[in-house]
Amino acid sequence: EKVIKIGLLGSGTVGSGVIQVLEMNRPQITERVGTPIEIKTVLVRDVKKPRPQLGHLHLTDKIEDILEDPEIDVVVELMGGIHPAREYMLRAMEAGKSVVTANKDVVAQFGKDMFAMAEEKDVDFRFEASVGGGIPIITPLKQCLTANRITEILGIVNGTTNYMLTKMTECGADYDTVLKEAQAKGYAEANPSADVDGLDAARKAAILSSLAFNTRVQLEDVSVEGITKITPDDIEYAKDLGYVIKLLAVGKDSDENGVDVRVHPVFLPKTHPLASVNGVYNAIFVRGNAIGEAMFYGQGAGSLPTASAVISDIIDVARDILNRTFGHVRCTCYEQKKLCPLEA
Ligand code: NAP
Ligand code: HSE
Repeated sequence: EKVIKIGLLGSGTVGSGVIQVLEMNRPQITERVGTPIEIKTVLVRDVKKPRPQLGHLHLTDKIEDILEDPEIDVVVELMGGIHPAREYMLRAMEAGKSVVTANKDVVAQFGKDMFAMAEEKDVDFRFEASVGGGIPIITPLKQCLTANRITEILGIVNGTTNYMLTKMTECGADYDTVLKEAQAKGYAEANPSADVDGLDAARKAAILSSLAFNTRVQLEDVSVEGITKITPDDIEYAKDLGYVIKLLAVGKDSDENGVDVRVHPVFLPKTHPLASVNGVYNAIFVRGNAIGEAMFYGQGAGSLPTASAVISDIIDVARDILNRTFGHVRCTCYEQKKLCPLEA
């Protein structure tokens, strides 16, 4: 029996969530893929550091132990940042391994190189968790909504700042205290200025707009303002007038102005559907010329929600590998039983 083996790069908030969910849902994941998925090796910075959450897993501090291991089929990059994540992912694909990542920094800035390498080596490169944490949004934009001309994509796409703004609005909490809380909950980036300055949301806006408008939107094309200038007075003033302040990513495509993408704080009327998206929750609102309006909602950051998106990519890649290796019918729900639950 073929076992799909994973090399995991990074075992922080999201990496440890992936380990936990693969363990927690092992029987159903195995049944749905048709074969087990196992983490074979985990790349860490320091192998001597105690990591009880990694239990029995094999740890290494040498990337070659993963890239040169012919048994490893999929490399899952959850270290974050550009360097060395980008190089490791390119080297993994060069070595014939598929790659799954949650890294919006690399996808937004170097997506082109990643896709080119994936195509050259005929492997998969997947990034569902790079936007919206656990919310399925990349696959819907790449597949389910492709019949549409999308004219607008509007979203709360950063969990840290939405958590902070919610606490500041609801409890009058202090900016530094709520930022520390968001960091302690594992929502913030390693350098949280990426969250509060709006850069993380801008990366996500570039990814979403590229997919939605079928054109390459570069990070430099996105105008960005974060939440650092928002004062308690602004929040009170908004409340008094029946508004809430939200950090929004806004992408528009019109015949008159072409594609316009921006990230900035907005005064939203309390009646707007995005106004009640609170805490770590994110939501992405899409307007298409066939579907009309659609909204995707869920936890935009955090260990298990993000792991859910990462593992959905791993499962998809595993099915592709099985198809290529054994010529299975592509993407049936229950590969081995050749049975869709709806037919049972
Ligand atoms: P994290 O908690 O900081 O974990 C990153 C892990 O990678 C740490 O364990 C770190 O090891 C390890 N690492 C970093 N550089 C390494 C290197 N050169 N060699 C070996 N190990 C290395 O970060 P995270 O929150 O899990 O985020 C991971 C990725 O997911 C990022 O791209 C982030 O943007 C993305 N993401 C995060 C969330 C979220 O809610 N946190 C949601 C969606 C997407 P040390 O412990 O030794 O530093
Ligand atoms: N720091 C990011 C956020 C993690 O707060 O949304 C999820 O991408």
